[in-house]
Amino acid sequence: MKRAVDFLVLGAGIAGLRAALTLAKSGTVMVVAKEAGQESNTHYAQGGIAVAMGGDEDVALHLEDTLMAGDGLVFSPAAVALVEDGPLRVDELMEWGARFDREDGELMRTREGAHSLPRILHAFGDATGAEIGRALRAEALRHERIEMVEWRMARSLMVRDGRVVGADLLDHDGGTHRVLARATLLATGGAGQIYSETTNPAVATGDGIALALEAGAEVADMEFYQFHPTALNLPGVPRFLLSEALRGEGAELVNEAGERFMERYHPMLELAPRDVVARAIVRESRSADETNPQTIYLDMRRVRGVNLRERFPGISAFLARHGLSLAEDRIPVSPAAHYFMGGVRTDLHGRTTLSGLYAAGEVAATGVHGANRLASNSLLEGLVFGARAAEAMVADAPLCSGKVDGKDESVGQGFVEANDGASVRIADCVERLRRCMWRSFGLLREGAGMRRGADEVAAIAGELESMRAVETGGRAGNEAVGMARVARAMAASALAREESRGAHFRSDFPTKRVEFARVHTVFTESVGVRFTSFGEE
Ligand code: SIN
Repeated sequence: MKRAVDFLVLGAGIAGLRAALTLAKSGTVMVVAKEAGQESNTHYAQGGIAVAMGGDEDVALHLEDTLMAGDGLVFSPAAVALVEDGPLRVDELMEWGARFDREDGELMRTREGAHSLPRILHAFGDATGAEIGRALRAEALRHERIEMVEWRMARSLMVRDGRVVGADLLDHDGGTHRVLARATLLATGGAGQIYSETTNPAVATGDGIALALEAGAEVADMEFYQFHPTALNLPGVPRFLLSEALRGEGAELVNEAGERFMERYHPMLELAPRDVVARAIVRESRSADETNPQTIYLDMRRVRGVNLRERFPGISAFLARHGLSLAEDRIPVSPAAHYFMGGVRTDLHGRTTLSGLYAAGEVAATGVHGANRLASNSLLEGLVFGARAAEAMVADAPLCSGKVDGKDESVGQGFVEANDGASVRIADCVERLRRCMWRSFGLLREGAGMRRGADEVAAIAGELESMRAVETGGRAGNEAVGMARVARAMAASALAREESRGAHFRSDFPTKRVEFARVHTVFTESVGVRFTSFGEE
């Protein structure tokens, strides 16, 4: 007998933890984190969580804003689920101890891009994700049926007779551990590391999407990667996120001459949809000289009535380490890969196209964000669809119950860490892949460049696969093979969508085309890209 649990949850961010709390009522749960439990995109989410706590009219407006930001591609039943389930899920979170910022006892709300009113709750100023993660982890640790396992990643899914029945996990000492489960949830988050410029932490390598692709599941909307407009742009410094809430509190975007320029790009100025602001920054930076872009800045020096250090303590502390202050300096910014709208295709209850396999949160593609996610809808997505997926997993799977116990059974040697030569070659492949994706599948795309990029991605994927055949690569090798796999799906989907919509902008097809309205790309490794309308199959 191998190690068995009722439910296996891969990923310990907001979606995985929220799912685990429902699953634990019905069976044993193993939650697997690739590094220490808190290390996920959730932890770094600053600005907040968008939620309509003010009744039906408020919910209807939240829906309208989500649809508008998504640029004609939001699958509206998914957006309805998001905004309608949202208030209940946030109430529940507060009952579990999440502390959102309040003034005179009332929840404080801020505004971000493309929101028609302030509805974004925040915690400790700009540490919303960290606080939500803390509350969910504390609640999960109280459950004796939830086991949290750190420093492991899934190497592959186990598929028997077309059904996913668990996964082989790789630990950091090179051992593999087979875990059988009645249902497996992918909650592995995003894939920002596929790009050379990203706000995402090192763990965000698209593992869940790669696992699903390898097992034969459908992925969808892979051409839609969101670029956050304002990551810190200092040479040699990571692309630290500068929350959209800064603009919600009055930050302006200015060029090197100090001119505010957003009026030339969108009537909502700095609070236009995220894809519009990101492209405007790039265009403005290249407006005088295409080959020698000027620096663009966030400028809060004219903001009055807000104590910026108190309102944004995390951002202020990071900037101070680099000699910058929100109140006194212009802050250099540029866009960076931030959030994946595409992912493993699911229904509204997290069911993928493989039985026994579910997905929720950033790894999933429900169609809820369409072509461009509304700011701060991602934490809400994790809560709402984490809970929905868990309910489906319970409903679909015959259950056993009891405590998680027994020892891991190690299966075989597993991967050991790569030798030095292989490590260097793997790192080199990943660097080339990341630069290629940024160059060819970044904010501004064009057919010939994408075709060259797709060829390069395929060549790198081939190099990695042949290395895998003869050498072992530990976590780094596993991640690299997965990233190349995801990148191939992204490249094929981006080439197939011959229009511009939301985050996918092609200079060779610069406008939206009616034939692509409400049409999603779906990709499998066996078939390639096909087009479909969600809800009609
Ligand atoms: C931010 O604080 O700007 C990020 C929030 C989000 O990704 O929606």
